[in-house]
Amino acid sequence: MNEIAKVENGDPVEGGTRTFVEALLRQQRKDFSLRPEFHLSDEIYRLDIDRVLMPHWQCVNHVTAIPNVGDYIVFHYDRESVIVVRGADNEIRSFANVCRHRGSRICETSGHARGGVLVCPYHAWSYGLDGSLAHARMMPRDFDKASYGLTPIATKVVQGLIFVSLSDDPLGFDDCEANINATLGVYGWADAKVAHQSSIVFSANWKLALENQVECYHCAPSHPEFSVVHGQSTASEKKLIAQMNAKADAQGIRVETRDHWALAALEGQEQAYSERYPMSANACTASKDGSPLGPLMGEFKQYDNGMAVCYVGPMNHCLSYGDYGAIFRYTPRSVSETELAVVWLVRGDAVEGKDYNLDDLTWMWKVTAAADKKIVEENQLGVSSRFYKPGPYALPIEEKTVRFTEWYLQSLADAI
Ligand code: FES
Ligand SMILES: [Fe+2]
Repeated sequence: MNEIAKVENGDPVEGGTRTFVEALLRQQRKDFSLRPEFHLSDEIYRLDIDRVLMPHWQCVNHVTAIPNVGDYIVFHYDRESVIVVRGADNEIRSFANVCRHRGSRICETSGHARGGVLVCPYHAWSYGLDGSLAHARMMPRDFDKASYGLTPIATKVVQGLIFVSLSDDPLGFDDCEANINATLGVYGWADAKVAHQSSIVFSANWKLALENQVECYHCAPSHPEFSVVHGQSTASEKKLIAQMNAKADAQGIRVETRDHWALAALEGQEQAYSERYPMSANACTASKDGSPLGPLMGEFKQYDNGMAVCYVGPMNHCLSYGDYGAIFRYTPRSVSETELAVVWLVRGDAVEGKDYNLDDLTWMWKVTAAADKKIVEENQLGVSSRFYKPGPYALPIEEKTVRFTEWYLQSLADAI
C-alpha cells in the first residue's frame, strides 16, 4: 500500500511525516503567519486534503444550476470528481465519478444525461440517475448488476444550496442548516436562481487564499471599488449599523448571527458563522455606486443598507445583499493551485436585460476577485522565497485570519 492510500484509509501517518509535521508545529509562532512549509510541502498538502479538509462540506452550486431531470454538475475536488445529478424524482444525488467496471471517469464536464443514463465513455456501462447500473455490455447472464451501482456521496440541499462531503464520516450539518435558514433563508435563497457563475484559479496554496478571504485589512489598499460601497471599520460604522438594524426592524426582518466558526464549531458539527455588515452611507447594494441592481429578494420590501455573510465550513462563504447573492467556494487543486468559484444569484423570477443587467450585477465581485487573485499570488511568491520569515498578524483587524490558522494548525495536529 502506498503512503497516500494509507493516509486516506485513516491508518497512522508514516513516522517520517509525523516527525516533520510535529517539528513544524513546534516552530510555529503564535499570532505569526504560517511557516513556508505549510504552503509549499507536498506531504502537508496530502494531509490537508485527506485529513484536515475531508470531513468538511463543499458548496457545489445552487439547485437552479441543474433545473431539469438528468442535468448534472461535475465537481472536481483535488484529484476527486463527483457527479451531482437531478433524479427522475427531482431529488439531487451525488456519486463518485468513477466507473464500477475499471474505474474510468464517467463524465468529463457538467451536462445532461440523455435518455436518463450516464454512460461511461470507456466500455459504455450505463448508470441510471439514481446511480444504479442500468446496462453492462457483454457481461455474463448471471452478472449481478445490483452490486455495481455508483458510489454515493453525502449530499445536503439547504435553501437551494447543494453541499457535498467526500468523507465516509462527514461532520454533522444541523448547525449549518439552522444558520443558513436563519440568514440566507431571510434573503430568499431557496427561491433564487443562478444568474452567472465564474471560476478563477489562484496560483497559491488554499490557506493563503482563505487567510486573505477572511480579513479586510487589505480592503482599503487592494479593493477601492469594494470600499466605496461597503462600511469600513471606522467610528461612523456604529451609526451605519444602527441605521441598518432600524431599517430591517421596520420591515419585521431579523437576520440571525452566530459564531460557531473555526475552533468555535460545535462538537462534531461543520463550522457555522453569520454576521451582518452595513453598506456605506446610502449604498443599497454592492454595485459601482451603491444603486440597486435587481429586484429585492426574500423578505425585503426595501433596502436596509446592509448585507449578511454566512460561512459554511472553512471553504464556503456566502454573501447576501438585498437584491443579489454571491457564493464563494474555494477548492484546492494542488499544493500551489486553488480554484475560486463564484456564483451570482438573483430572485427566481428576475429577467435578465429587464430586471437586471449581467455586467452590472457581476462587476463588483469580478473586479474584487481578480484583485484577490493578484494579491494572493504575490503572497505565494513571497512565502516561496528563501528570505520569507513569518510576520505578525495585525490585531484585531486580522483576528479572523488568526482564528483560521489556529483552526488549521489544531486540525493538522489532530490529524497526525
Ligand atoms: S471503465 Fe467504465 S465501462 Fe469500462
Ligand atoms: Fe479581498
